[in-house]
Amino acid sequence: MKTNRMSVPQIRAHKAVGSNPPIAMVTAYDAPGARMADAAGVDIILVGDSLAMVVLGYDDTLSVTVDDMAYHTKAVARTAPGALIVSDMPWMSYHTGVRDAVKNAATLIRAGAEAVKLEGGANRVDVIRALVDAEIPVMGHVGLTPQSVHTFGGFSVQAKTSDAAKKMLDDVLAIEDAGVFSVVLEAVPDVVAARATELLKIPTIGIGAGPNCDGQVLVFHDLLGLTFGHRPKFVRRYGALGELGVKALEGYVHDVKIKSFPSAKEAYQGSESEFADFTYEPK
Ligand code: KIV
Repeated sequence: MKTNRMSVPQIRAHKAVGSNPPIAMVTAYDAPGARMADAAGVDIILVGDSLAMVVLGYDDTLSVTVDDMAYHTKAVARTAPGALIVSDMPWMSYHTGVRDAVKNAATLIRAGAEAVKLEGGANRVDVIRALVDAEIPVMGHVGLTPQSVHTFGGFSVQAKTSDAAKKMLDDVLAIEDAGVFSVVLEAVPDVVAARATELLKIPTIGIGAGPNCDGQVLVFHDLLGLTFGHRPKFVRRYGALGELGVKALEGYVHDVKIKSFPSAKEAYQGSESEFADFTYEPK
């Protein structure tokens, strides 16, 4: 049974002002991850399409489908977390028209999401309005939108010129007006994120957007040290579970090789009476 459920209206109303602490959001893609995030007290679990990169081994997020997202959303939702569950709409699930977008978002809601997230600004206003009209809460995502990796030519910081920053601020205002209940600002200069946070009535949730946002989000595998290779500047590691995992696995391999695993305690002993004279010869 869920207790202290975090809801869309609660998040919508939550600006980190006065004594209101910032919103803590983290990604999760399966039941153990969701349980850990919920036990740690996160406010929002994002079933992110970063799934593609940190779980499925792709170089970008473009390969995941609505079915993949629904499958992982179900795993998270089965744990009935207190945190709000938001699922990413993957690339091409909302780019081919409003009807497709509503149908695909409904698949994620039926899988257990309570809201969806999609990338883009003024160009997504029609889709956002249609989803909101279908009673599907939408979180926005602007700045470095990973689904635009080829348009951007890589995963690079956005809104770096004052013109680009003004365009991004126009975008967040447009999607707020269209009905998003919060917006992720990814990899943008802190001053631009601070201005967005000041201008918007809905909360901003930053990732690589500096401290002046209404919340922060990190990718589960990044913050726990379960990713390998390049680490973006904005990632703070709170654990080294990758290294710990390798050490634990080395211990297992070692014990198997020297036959110290399994011990008698880790095996099932057949009953004395049943197996005292047990023999078997093939027919
Ligand atoms: O997919 C994801 O993990 C995200 C976060 C980086 C915000 O969109």
